[in-house]
Amino acid sequence: MDFEEETRDTPAAREAQAGLPARRAAVELLTAVIDKKQPLDDILSRSLATGWMFDLPARDRALARAIVATSLRRRGEIDHVLGHFLERGMPDKAGKLYPILLSGAAQLIFLKTPPHAAIDLAVRLAQWDGRARRYDKLVNAVLRRVAKEGDAIAASLDAPRVNTPDWLWQRWVARYGEARAHLIAAANLIEPPLDLTVKSDAESWVEQMSGRVLPNGSIRLLPKGRIEALPGYDQGAWWVQDIAASLPAHLMGDVEGKRVLDLCAAPGGKTAQLALAGASVVAVDISKTRLKTLSANLARLSLAAATVAADATTWRPEERFDAILLDAPCSSTGTIRRHPDIPYLKSPKDIEDLAHLQTRLLDNACSLLKSDGALVYSTCSLELEEGEAQIAALLARNPDVKVDPISSDDVFGQGDWLQPPGFLRTFPYQLDLGTPEWSGMDGFFAARLKRNK
Ligand SMILES: C[S@@+](CC[C@H](N)C(=O)[O-])C[C@H]1O[C@@H](n2cnc3c(N)ncnc32)[C@H](O)[C@@H]1O
Repeated sequence: MDFEEETRDTPAAREAQAGLPARRAAVELLTAVIDKKQPLDDILSRSLATGWMFDLPARDRALARAIVATSLRRRGEIDHVLGHFLERGMPDKAGKLYPILLSGAAQLIFLKTPPHAAIDLAVRLAQWDGRARRYDKLVNAVLRRVAKEGDAIAASLDAPRVNTPDWLWQRWVARYGEARAHLIAAANLIEPPLDLTVKSDAESWVEQMSGRVLPNGSIRLLPKGRIEALPGYDQGAWWVQDIAASLPAHLMGDVEGKRVLDLCAAPGGKTAQLALAGASVVAVDISKTRLKTLSANLARLSLAAATVAADATTWRPEERFDAILLDAPCSSTGTIRRHPDIPYLKSPKDIEDLAHLQTRLLDNACSLLKSDGALVYSTCSLELEEGEAQIAALLARNPDVKVDPISSDDVFGQGDWLQPPGFLRTFPYQLDLGTPEWSGMDGFFAARLKRNK
């Protein structure tokens, strides 16, 4: 059947037409991530503010995001399947042909969209794109074969391996060995649950939201619909924060009444924890826009902190602090479950550059600490350069600093989250709650440091 026959005014064609805006948005988003290296969530929040995604009904927006996330999470498998049917490879200078095929195949193989809808919409998208237009029949032919044979080809592949770009795979194998690299990559294929840090009454909220209470008192839910629609959002009863992301602030111990510096603070999940624990917090971030988000988040939660827009590598306040949390910018390779665009945005060079920035941030942070103060350094990265190696280098160049080992009591008895000599090191495959969709946590590193008196 060719495209003309498919687009007659049949119920199937009308149904397919209805889903067009979401598919077009998915193709635009994929193009921005893959070609322009723009983070998915940044584009989504920007385009919500400027209009083009905002004009889509919430259901279409959610569908577009689901298509993009699946396309990126399963990109290796999908490329393999498409490769079977593109005998001469992906044509050059073909406009949006690749994101159209990628998102079309993601819908057919993984989202189980009815083939007539996924294929018809992909053909229409190709016809709208000046350069992809001449490939409309190719789109039709390839996606028909994907619909018939794609599942079987995908099932024959080692999904965790093929969906992990070589540069990341090789790093993880070198650092953690092949078996653990495989576990990390397998966990990254699963849509993560939603964790909420609650101000109080976890048991009562968990009942209202049919969730589960985690070892640290956070609530875990299977995400459905808009976060703002969940009970307690308007009251400021909780905020979204993966269990692993909540651990660094917890490692600061009792901060009540202390003057605490939160360096690289926005959007403020850890600032909120410190403020809730009774600290007097100064939150510093280089981005004024992100600090505005932090202030809005704290206002919703009825919590307070002083904010400073400054470069934390050079910022010099008049007074030193009792305790400092440095949650440094990093490659974020521990959060790929949540951000499946990361493997396609970051490179080994970014890790090197970020490691240099972290070194400068750490040096300045140490200089701002009182003589008996505590410093917690954290990153949501699985990379050695942004964790263990960073701390080893700090200790070598700064004899004033020593490691204050984190114990299993500091992490709710979860000794498997720790590595010698007392660092926090969590992995996406940890926190097994019985089924894959309820399990997992972000990959985080944290070290607690003290100044030698
Ligand atoms: C990992 S995020 C922080 C997340 C935050 N701690 C939380 O829990 O919500 C890193 C932050 O570092 C900020 N940043 C990057 N370079 C910085 C610098 N030189 N000085 C201060 N902040 C910086 C970024 O704007 C970003 O908000």
